[in-house]
Amino acid sequence: MMSPVEQFQADRTRAREAGDPMAAVCVLATVNEHGHPEARTLILRQVEEDLALFMHASSPKWQQLPHGGSINTYWPSIEIQYRMRFTTQPIDPAVVAASWQYRPDTPKRMDWFYDLQQPQSTTIGSRAELEQGLNNLSLPDPITAPTSACGLLIKPTMLERLDLNELSGLHDRRRYTLTGAEWLEEVLVP
Ligand SMILES: Cc1cc2nc3c(=O)[nH]c(=O)nc-3n(C[C@H](O)[C@H](O)[C@H](O)COP(=O)(O)O)c2cc1C
Repeated sequence: MMSPVEQFQADRTRAREAGDPMAAVCVLATVNEHGHPEARTLILRQVEEDLALFMHASSPKWQQLPHGGSINTYWPSIEIQYRMRFTTQPIDPAVVAASWQYRPDTPKRMDWFYDLQQPQSTTIGSRAELEQGLNNLSLPDPITAPTSACGLLIKPTMLERLDLNELSGLHDRRRYTLTGAEWLEEVLVP
């Protein structure tokens, strides 16, 4: 029997093979300090066996994630939605730094901008000010990852799978909850 995480991986592989651009991403929801939900698209990465997210520690989501997050994926190619709750583990900074080197030039510079100029997701006077700030950064040569470029392994504790493929239109919805080392499966009213 496949675990629900293996099922997620198998479904995601099918979506990717079907050319589904959504297979690369997820929506991450967190709650801000005012109790408001915030959702945004992130690349859903794979680090060995684990799903992973990469972000800059100056983003508010970095502070919000320890208080809980929820990941949502929908792959139109195969008509399957997942919702996921999880705990996180920091990725070894050496692994983050090595993969950071494959980023395009501007995202690399932006990571340094967040460190040296101002945090991600703060307001700035104008695009011109942003471009000027980015061009005037004094960067390490050769350019390396700042320690604030971070990665988190995603350790799912709850997965919910909604499969819209039933011909009858009666969708198949199941929730899997990690209890100790075992996954508990429950059928939900879709
Ligand atoms: C397709 C796509 C992929 C993205 N991937 C990432 C990502 O991997 N990491 C990231 O920090 N932001 C990513 N973003 C940008 C985020 O959606 C968001 O705008 C940014 O991280 C700021 O979020 P914040 O308000 O939580 O600080 C991506 C956006 C899109 C549209």
